[in-house]
Amino acid sequence: MRILFLGDIVGQPGRSIVAARLPGLLEQYRPDLIIANAENVANGRGITPKLAEQLFDAQIDILTMGNHVWDNREIFGYIEHDRRIVRPANFPPGVPGIGYTLVKIGVLQVAVVNLIGRVFMGDYDSPFAAIDRILAEIEPRTKHVFVDFHAEATSEKLAFAHYVDGRVSAVIGTHTHVQTADEQILPGGTAYLTDVGMCGPVNGIIGIKKEQVLQRFLTQMPVRFDVETGPAMLNAVVVDLTDKGTASSVTRISLR
Ligand code: FE2
Repeated sequence: MRILFLGDIVGQPGRSIVAARLPGLLEQYRPDLIIANAENVANGRGITPKLAEQLFDAQIDILTMGNHVWDNREIFGYIEHDRRIVRPANFPPGVPGIGYTLVKIGVLQVAVVNLIGRVFMGDYDSPFAAIDRILAEIEPRTKHVFVDFHAEATSEKLAFAHYVDGRVSAVIGTHTHVQTADEQILPGGTAYLTDVGMCGPVNGIIGIKKEQVLQRFLTQMPVRFDVETGPAMLNAVVVDLTDKGTASSVTRISLR
């Protein structure tokens, strides 16, 4: 089984490069499941129902989220009813939506899990406890488990990956928007990449206009952030899974 995962799609430049390059990637890699992190798809801030539908129409099967999921109120109701969008499972109880979803691929099922880190992020529940709970729930149904770990700190991402090594198929990091070059298969068989990188503008600072980010750093005053315009890049990863649910390969993709 082959999974294609697209990194954080950021605003119009991200949407454009995904629309332009995804068909070629589908032809080249022929994935069974296409997942994308889409928490920055609406001008860098959250997602709307309309944009979610556009991504589903572009053949993306599942959308994962992160700290920006609630930036557009219209998504609150939508996320309750569409099981193709998953928001972090370790958000506090009572929030809309689901933290993982099961997808049928032929005779197999794949669980797609979204978790959020806590280091430099926010006061969320433990992602370690959350994955234990989820794995206990899905264990009778599947060993194929893909995790989008949306987090800032490399150490937290790698620690989490080792915690679940051999218990999930892949832990792929999102949120920093910068692709790392540490793809590996851990000793227990879990594919790992600290951060897949974004689908978004090449210029700017992690997708945002650089003048605005610099002004924030230089003055420490509140500054409105807008997505950078101009050329875009597409960052993604392809993970191949065995029938046992372990990973047999992990391949980074970076297109400009
Ligand atoms: Fe994020």
